[in-house]
Formats: sequence, C-alpha cells, structure tokens
Amino acid sequence: MKTIGLCSDHAGFELKEFIKQLLDSKGIAYKDFGTSSPDSCDYPDYAHPLAKAVEANEVYPGIAICGTGNGIAMTLNKHQGIRAALCWHEELASFARSHNDANILVMPGRFISHEKAEQIVEAFFNTDFEGGRHQRRIDKIPL
Ligand code: RB5
Repeated sequence: MKTIGLCSDHAGFELKEFIKQLLDSKGIAYKDFGTSSPDSCDYPDYAHPLAKAVEANEVYPGIAICGTGNGIAMTLNKHQGIRAALCWHEELASFARSHNDANILVMPGRFISHEKAEQIVEAFFNTDFEGGRHQRRIDKIPL
C-alpha cells in the first residue's frame, strides 16, 4: 500500500489522531495534511492540499474527516481526479471502492465511534474496484 493521505478540520481532529494510531499499529505509512490541533479552522484549507496530493499520486488513498463529512467531501469532489465517498458504515465503504473506485474515504467525525471508524477503514482498504460497467460510469463523472 502507498502512503495514505490524511486531513481533517477541528471537528475531525480527534478521529484523525485515532486513525493515525491505527495506521501506526499496522505499520502503514501516512502523510498528515492537518489540521494539527482541535482549534477551530476551515476544512477547505486542508482538503484542497490532500486532493492535490492524491491527484498527483503522491499519496493514495486519502482519508478525510470533518464533523458531518459533508463539507470536506464537497470540497474534495471539486477536484476532477477525486472521487471522495462519505461513509458512516462499512458496507458503504466497501461499495465506495467496488462500484465507485473512491480514492478518498470521508468520515463524519461527530457521528461515528472509533470502533465503527476502524471497521469502515478496514472495509475501504480491503475492497477492490470491480471495473467493467462501473468503470464506464466513473469515466462519465468528470466535467
Ligand atoms: C464544523 O463545525 C463543521 O461545520 C464541519 O466540521 C463540517 O461538519 C462541515 O461540513
């Protein structure tokens, strides 16, 4: 697996730190694009650098977290090469990979437990893209 890219705003900071511990325990490398404290901040300031790094193939996949997951997903998906999927259940994460070839996993930090986040990350990491008809569909996404 390549280096994982991480980012969050203040509302996702605590879960991002948990994800870092999880990756450390598995020996998986990551690059943290911030934020670096629970102080209030603006999620686009961290989402855009992560999106650019995924598009540049510097990191893959990405994991992004804000309070609801919506603002950070909206920002990431402005980038043509990004398919960011908001997941609050492991089955969503699995389909985000198998059907959508999602390259950034987005989670709602204020709405899921550490245990649920771990299940979601595992499902995202362990599911391959199916290709075929799904490739045809994702090819039609960019504007
Ligand atoms: C921050 O309060 C919150 O608005 C943000 O984390 C996110 O949920 C926005 O979509």
